[in-house]
Amino acid sequence: MPGLTIGDSVPNLEVETTHGVIKLHDYIDTWTILFSHPGDFTPVCTTELGKMAAHAPEFAKRGVKLLGLSCDDVSSHAEWVKDIEAYTPGCKVTYPIIADPQRELIKILNMVDPDEKDSSGHNVPSRALHIVGADKRIKLSFLYPASTGRNMDEVVRVLDSLERSSKNKIATPANWKPGEDVVISPSVSDKEAKKLFPQGFKTVDLPSNKGYLRFTNVDH
Ligand code: BEZ
Repeated sequence: MPGLTIGDSVPNLEVETTHGVIKLHDYIDTWTILFSHPGDFTPVCTTELGKMAAHAPEFAKRGVKLLGLSCDDVSSHAEWVKDIEAYTPGCKVTYPIIADPQRELIKILNMVDPDEKDSSGHNVPSRALHIVGADKRIKLSFLYPASTGRNMDEVVRVLDSLERSSKNKIATPANWKPGEDVVISPSVSDKEAKKLFPQGFKTVDLPSNKGYLRFTNVDH
């Protein structure tokens, strides 16, 4: 059975976290980043949770909540948070971290690393990251192996893309950053584009003459 992915609703699980028991649908009442880590007291994860905490003001500015997950129990998470905060001075881990010592949630949430095992031979979570909308549906998913730490600047960048494309009939091109031009969705005719984008748009001349690459700006 294919795992939870873009377009799917996150199941309304009751999960144990460092902030007490949380029902996922109660918690996810705005854009929410649900992200997993292979395990507590591991090097890459310690840097990643610190970077998440360092980016907390960027997420808060965008009205985005965070919800981490690591195998190991809540008391282990609480001890580990001390290391994370010591490693990333000035940062506080204010977001909850789900405990999944039985490795059950990672299966339901499609966060299993097929290759990485803990010392007792159980599969650990991959570095999965689901960006979930207030409608509880997954809008974007990253799936990295345990060996590759994520780039939190990229997480912020894709949030900015998702926010703009949820409000406008646009998409963001390769390497787009806020403030730069976006492209008009292929489903929008030129006639409709004139109404939707009164600021105007530019069509790029290409050999096919199909006029499908149209840039506009929704930030200025
Ligand atoms: C880490 O967080 O450094 C890590 C965890 C599991 C496997 C490999 C690396």
